[in-house]
Amino acid sequence: MALVLRSHPCSSLAKHEEFNSLTSIRVKRRNSIRAAGSDLSTIEKQTIKLGASELEVTKLGIGAWSWGDTTFWNDFSWDDRKMKAANAAFNASVDAGITLFDTAEVYGSKLSFGAENSESLLGRFIKERKQRDSTEIVVATKFAALPWRLGRGSVVSALKDSLNRLGLSSVDVYQLHWPGVWGNEGYIDGLGDAVEKGLVKAVGVSNYNEQRLRNAYAQLQKRGIPLASNQVNYSLIYRAPEENGVKAVCDELGITLIAYSPIGQGVLSGKYTPENPPSGPRGQIYNKEFLTNVKPLLERVKEIGGNYGKTSIQVALNWLIAQGNVVPIPGAKTAEQAQEFAGALGWTLTEEEVKELRETASKVRPVQGFPVERL
Ligand SMILES: NC(=O)c1ccc[n+]([C@@H]2O[C@H](COP(=O)([O-])OP(=O)(O)OC[C@H]3O[C@@H](n4cnc5c(N)ncnc54)[C@H](OP(=O)(O)O)[C@@H]3O)[C@@H](O)[C@H]2O)c1
Repeated sequence: MALVLRSHPCSSLAKHEEFNSLTSIRVKRRNSIRAAGSDLSTIEKQTIKLGASELEVTKLGIGAWSWGDTTFWNDFSWDDRKMKAANAAFNASVDAGITLFDTAEVYGSKLSFGAENSESLLGRFIKERKQRDSTEIVVATKFAALPWRLGRGSVVSALKDSLNRLGLSSVDVYQLHWPGVWGNEGYIDGLGDAVEKGLVKAVGVSNYNEQRLRNAYAQLQKRGIPLASNQVNYSLIYRAPEENGVKAVCDELGITLIAYSPIGQGVLSGKYTPENPPSGPRGQIYNKEFLTNVKPLLERVKEIGGNYGKTSIQVALNWLIAQGNVVPIPGAKTAEQAQEFAGALGWTLTEEEVKELRETASKVRPVQGFPVERL
């Protein structure tokens, strides 16, 4: 902009007017992009490095837990209509410039009736998309630290099975889904082996507490491999990482915090109320009492969003990104949901709003998290 002003031959008033008019055109253009919630390529850079790895990821990713799942999501049934909606969610995300997808070997476990494996679905969506364009998709998947999986060899072996389901020769991020019952040293060595074999670009963990993070970081560091990420439950209705030292240690060691359930499994949209609770297992977690208790927070989130022409979901995701070093991965079941997420990028809540929302959120009693965080 300074260049435009210097090179303009007219008076300073004209320069000023031109500045204002150019700014206004840009703001209008940006607002229309925001309203559409898409085409991130035309606004400021929307990628960051994952921890100290070389991997660039979008500032927001998409969670694929619900794709094919019949244990927690989808009212215990999966069908072609839901599959098409998930496929549309995938394509809408990529169209909007969001290319990071998070899945896991246990999502859509074949143990549950009618389920389809989430990795297989994601692999199929990627393959179909590749026939249309060459957009690079960044895949993050996870190793299930099941009690009978002992030692480092189990990590590379499980990763190879994941790669088969995904139809890929390598993935971008491989994460330990939760800490092992018998210890983690073997699994961490296995992550390092996966990097050295060229099967994965970056490695991370999930549901790791502060001490486990420090241990994993130090163990990988001896091999010159950065621990890139820790994926934990983090949202305006679940701020445990701020209180249990996990966010602080991620910032200290340069580990990206990947925030799961970042829209409180749909609650932060405001669509669930004490009169209209979510169906399935979510109804037990976000019960009438919780949904009554969370109302003042939801009202304030909505009000703030209104000032920006943004939805509550977009505010909730923007609030997480505003913490710095946080990549939220909301789950999208439909194209519309994915498009809405894209509108969380390209603008910023003020520091005062970020602070005020934290204060309002601190009055809400958090829901029960994953117990391993506290062990
Ligand atoms: N590492 C771990 O242990 C762990 C644990 C949990 C999740 N994760 C990861 O994190 C991802 C996201 O977490 P999550 O799926 O638990 O929760 P979430 O992202 O907070 O919520 C996702 C749900 O919110 C609803 N929703 C989505 N967009 C919406 C919109 N625009 N308006 C209204 N409702 C909307 C949808 O369900 P409805 O439409 O049915 O309401 C959707 O399935 C998962 O997919 C998974 O990849 C990891």
